[in-house]
Amino acid sequence: MAEDLWFLNKDCFGLKSPKKSPIVLRTVVLVFSMLCGVYIFSICLKQISVYRKANKFVEIQVIGQPCHASGIEQWEIPYVHFPKPHTYSRNECACNPVRFFAILSMQRSGSGWFETLLNSHINVSSNGEIFSVKERRSNISSITSTLDKVYNLDWLNSASKNECSAAVGFKWMLNQGVMDHHDEIVEYFNRRGVFTIFLFRRNLLRRMISVLANTYDRDAKLLNGTHKSHVHSPDEAEILARYKPTINSTLLIPNLKHEEAKIAKALEYFKTTRHIVLYYEDLVNNRTKLMDVQEFLRIPQRDLKSRQGVMDHHDEIVEYFNRRGVFTIFLFRRNLLRRMISVLANTYDRDAKLLNGTHKSHVHSPDEAEILARYKPTINSTLLIPNLKHEEAKIAKALEYFKTTRHIVLYYEDLVNNRTKLMDVQEFLRIPQRDLKSRQVKIHKAPISMQIENWNDVNNTLKGTQYEGFLQ
Ligand SMILES: *[C@@H]1O[C@H](CO)[C@@H](O)[C@H](O)[C@H]1NC(C)=O
Ligand SMILES: *[C@@H]1O[C@H](CO)[C@@H](O)[C@H](O)[C@H]1NC(C)=O
Ligand SMILES: *[C@@H]1O[C@H](CO)[C@@H](O)[C@H](O)[C@H]1NC(C)=O
Ligand SMILES: *[C@@H]1O[C@H](CO)[C@@H](O)[C@H](O)[C@H]1NC(C)=O
Ligand SMILES: *[C@@H]1O[C@H](CO)[C@@H](O)[C@H](O)[C@H]1NC(C)=O
Ligand SMILES: *[C@@H]1O[C@H](CO)[C@@H](O)[C@H](O)[C@H]1NC(C)=O
Ligand SMILES: *[C@@H]1O[C@H](CO)[C@@H](O)[C@H](O)[C@H]1NC(C)=O
Ligand SMILES: *[C@@H]1O[C@H](CO)[C@@H](O)[C@H](O)[C@H]1NC(C)=O
Ligand SMILES: *[C@@H]1O[C@H](CO)[C@@H](O)[C@H](O)[C@H]1NC(C)=O
Repeated sequence: MAEDLWFLNKDCFGLKSPKKSPIVLRTVVLVFSMLCGVYIFSICLKQISVYRKANKFVEIQVIGQPCHASGIEQWEIPYVHFPKPHTYSRNECACNPVRFFAILSMQRSGSGWFETLLNSHINVSSNGEIFSVKERRSNISSITSTLDKVYNLDWLNSASKNECSAAVGFKWMLNQGVMDHHDEIVEYFNRRGVFTIFLFRRNLLRRMISVLANTYDRDAKLLNGTHKSHVHSPDEAEILARYKPTINSTLLIPNLKHEEAKIAKALEYFKTTRHIVLYYEDLVNNRTKLMDVQEFLRIPQRDLKSRQGVMDHHDEIVEYFNRRGVFTIFLFRRNLLRRMISVLANTYDRDAKLLNGTHKSHVHSPDEAEILARYKPTINSTLLIPNLKHEEAKIAKALEYFKTTRHIVLYYEDLVNNRTKLMDVQEFLRIPQRDLKSRQVKIHKAPISMQIENWNDVNNTLKGTQYEGFLQ
């Protein structure tokens, strides 16, 4: 560029003034050459800027091949991103659009559980409570650089789906700098198109109990000397639930009001961002709410499941079982096709609520059982064998993981048909033998051919395979 400019100027000032010219002519030539210089200089400037623009254009073309996401509505454009992580390449997903989100919540409001649900979606990376680390929230510049890193898909942890993420975010507690820096954060959210997901608990008294119990356990460490905020086994949950906090009733109403005010303030601060307000209780009771969340994030709809944790954390759990002497009772069903029917019927009833508008997974009367059994699911026969194989593999894996623990393997069918099996269980647990009874009523009693809508399909698919026995 500088060379071009010098060259053109040399041209311009290269005009030689004739010798012996009168003073007027000399002045004219001088003025002319000045004008010429100014003109050429302005041309040069234009060329420089054109050159610069062209250069920038080329840069965009080369480094970020333009991504054309289809099915994006006009209003969504500011919320659709194509991050280019510094630490890896998004490969075949480079042109998959990504949405940014932040879950704004309070401690003990079910946000941990909600996050495991979100992360069970193959295209969602919710990176946890990243601002629990003080340095990251000590001033707005560390906050924004942390946010930049997360939204550029450069925040790597076990939740990251990396290249194929369609939504990336984290959870942010209101007492972790959100309220202190709300102006700048709202500005950032609006500028970068970040969705806000508010997650609160409707029953603030229950939340208070949870907070107090958790605070107590931090010192008391009820679980064998370790403090746990979240547990993945009913036994641990039961131990933690044994503690009953005393609530100072003088402060109770002021405290509840204070919490309510904090929530109202957060909603007010962030109202200009694109947001959704969720309540823990609704998520627990109404699975449709999870569809709303996915719709809000514009990600493909999936059936989200909170990971049980047994398979994910098997090493630690087996270590714990062996250290503390926990017996493992495996209980599976031999006929995985019948299990599939039961799963499908139960999923159906969650929405259909056949029993007078309430969903029940288990029933205690033959009438109720009969109503639930009336529904006959359709089974996708293309996926049938892959699904059965997948279930078998999962069982085999669990048996393998836990084989070093003291264990017994039971099958539902054997327990139903052979009462002696219940004696075996009591013997295994070293408890006095009793005649065990259950008040639960079996839902599906009819022959299996009556329980499936597309029985012929299923019958033909499994005939002659290793799963033929399931048709009995
Ligand atoms: C912001 O906080 C970080 C980490 O605590 C610190 O390194 C940095 O100097 C701070 N910046 C400003 C502008 O205060
Ligand atoms: C979701 O992830 C899968 C598997 O990684 C990928 O094939 C798919 O394109 C992703 N979907 C979106 C919408 O990003
Ligand atoms: C857990 O309890 C067992 C038995 O009381 C003890 O041997 C073990 O050291 C404890 N573990 C921890 C981490 O405190
Ligand atoms: C409840 O809190 C108030 C105000 O802090 C205090 O004066 C009172 O002693 C407390 N009551 C109990 C039972 O701890
Ligand atoms: C469940 O949630 C959906 C969507 O948010 C709502 O339309 C429906 O009324 C809810 N159902 C119940 C029983 O609350
Ligand atoms: C449904 O509710 C009605 C009255 O509300 C009651 O008469 C009936 O027995 C209930 N049916 C079942 C299956 O619970
Ligand atoms: C069965 O599942 C496959 C794969 O997801 C799908 O392509 C097909 O349409 C499904 N068939 C039916 C009848 O739903
Ligand atoms: C019932 O279970 C016992 C103990 O597991 C076993 O020995 C017996 O053979 C079983 N009986 C039948 C009929 O399967
Ligand atoms: C299943 O299909 C076979 C033929 O493939 C047929 O003989 C049998 O009757 C069918 N079973 C039922 C219960 O329909």
